[in-house]
Amino acid sequence: MLKSTLDKNLQGSPGPGLIFLVGFMGSGKTTLGRKLASRLGYLFMDLDHIFEAREGMTIGEYFSKYGEDAFRKRESEVLKNHKYPEHAIIATGGGLPCFFDNMDWMNAHGKTVYIKLMPKTLADRLQNEKDERPLLRERHGEALVQFITEKLEEREPFYNKANIVANGLSLTAERVEELLSFKATS
Ligand code: S3P
Repeated sequence: MLKSTLDKNLQGSPGPGLIFLVGFMGSGKTTLGRKLASRLGYLFMDLDHIFEAREGMTIGEYFSKYGEDAFRKRESEVLKNHKYPEHAIIATGGGLPCFFDNMDWMNAHGKTVYIKLMPKTLADRLQNEKDERPLLRERHGEALVQFITEKLEEREPFYNKANIVANGLSLTAERVEELLSFKATS
């Protein structure tokens, strides 16, 4: 059951250099990441876009050409080999934390925030924009909710390793700033 925003907090630490946003497709990593970056004066980066720029093709095309296993391997290399600036907010693909040691790597190299939402909410958000996402093609209505429910069950043990687990429904960039201890919590 989702309760209010804070499950874990970081107290008293200075502002981190790299902040990785994790969560299921449709959880709002990009929207929140952009807002947070502009509040903090950090760069915003999206690892899906970095992947696509490096490979010269969309993720959908990569999946079709090489399959998911190859995508996961390459995605992990992109995460670990990219040259990040000193300060950045990084939105990660929904599956990325759940493969190899990616989640531990992110926790070792920055702070991590899991944007948590219920399957039904995610399905409503994804219903109209799922064509770009290879894992969601051909899934509609109840089948989409069912798929998300099962995938989330598999993925949450990884997402829950984040430094902060936050309720995505009520989450604002300001609140994430507070949780990351950029400023005093009220
Ligand atoms: C995926 C999520 C996508 C993208 C790829 C696989 C996943 O990223 O990396 O389609 O396995 O959940 P977003 O979460 O940014 O949509």
